[in-house]
Amino acid sequence: MDEPLGLLAELTYACPLHCPYCSNPLNLGDFGDELTTEEWRRVVTEAAGLGVLQLHLSGGEPLVRRDLVEIVRHAGDLGLYTNLITSAAGLTPRRAEQLRAAGLDHVQISIQADEPALSDRIAGTPSFARKTAAARLVKDLGWPLTVNVVLHRHNIDRIDRILALAEELAADRVELANTQYYGWAWRNKEALLPSTAQLARAEPVVRAARIRLRDRMEIIYVVPDYHGRYPKPCMGGWGRRQLTVVPNGDVLPCPPAHALPLPRASVREHSLAWIWESSPLFQRFRGTDWMPEPCRSCPRREVDFGGCRCQAFLLTGDAARTDPVCHLSPDHGIVAAAVRAADEAAGRREHVLAPRPHPGRRV
Ligand code: SF4
Ligand code: FES
Repeated sequence: MDEPLGLLAELTYACPLHCPYCSNPLNLGDFGDELTTEEWRRVVTEAAGLGVLQLHLSGGEPLVRRDLVEIVRHAGDLGLYTNLITSAAGLTPRRAEQLRAAGLDHVQISIQADEPALSDRIAGTPSFARKTAAARLVKDLGWPLTVNVVLHRHNIDRIDRILALAEELAADRVELANTQYYGWAWRNKEALLPSTAQLARAEPVVRAARIRLRDRMEIIYVVPDYHGRYPKPCMGGWGRRQLTVVPNGDVLPCPPAHALPLPRASVREHSLAWIWESSPLFQRFRGTDWMPEPCRSCPRREVDFGGCRCQAFLLTGDAARTDPVCHLSPDHGIVAAAVRAADEAAGRREHVLAPRPHPGRRV
């Protein structure tokens, strides 16, 4: 078994934004009993002991946690590379300077679109001005900056202008992340899924920008799952390189796995090492022994690991089936029908984005 490379620490699900593709769970109330500072320090110490090199601090909005600076400092003392994944709401100059002094290595800021009114509409709250100001602050303080933009049918036609904004903000890296259809995004799928024509327009724009900006800005763009022939190797394989700790201390192979009917594993009951190495949850889909046909005899089984377990569960009700995104899957018709519906809907009606309700927060 490999050592985990990265730990995604979802410090809280509280967030001032209301994005319609939010990756927070739908049953937020079940996760309100957040780990204390001392518990997070223990998790980070155990992660370093397990071999984790990178700590991604996320949420919700991690800046909501008053102890963020302390957690960053502790991780830095253990030699971990720390990355703050934030909406930037709450990244004031004072907070930024404290994080800089604590040793934070990298900042990733999400922006919903290049145009202020659209960005605010997607975020469900006025936030564009604060985001761009925070991005400039990040660069002023000498951090490397990643700008992350979740793509969907309401902003994918603006990729050229989104890239221009990232360039203007002097981003070192831009992640054009097509929406992953779990949780809230799944609920809003009809309003979010882009059409095949939109994707066809986006790709040459990205290709040209990659060439033009190759010395200045790395551009990550991954074709959305639903439009590909093969699935992605989700998380680099189940329980293979990454683990996620969510606000209440549950440990997961990937953030949406809380929705799967699998045994829980919590840092409040077990060590991180036991969970990684021996828990039934992490063992369940590790490697290739669990695979059904057509994955079992497929030459790509160690390339994509049969795709995404969460997607298989969401689309078929069985997490152990081949990801229906794969054109070889017996369930591929489900995905093909969703893409057809998006193509037919293109230009026909204006979809309404349903914002995510505001989470309650108990700390
Ligand atoms: Fe991947 Fe399975 Fe499809 Fe083969 S059949 S490409 S292993 S998802
Ligand atoms: Fe859970 Fe892909 S998101 S396995």
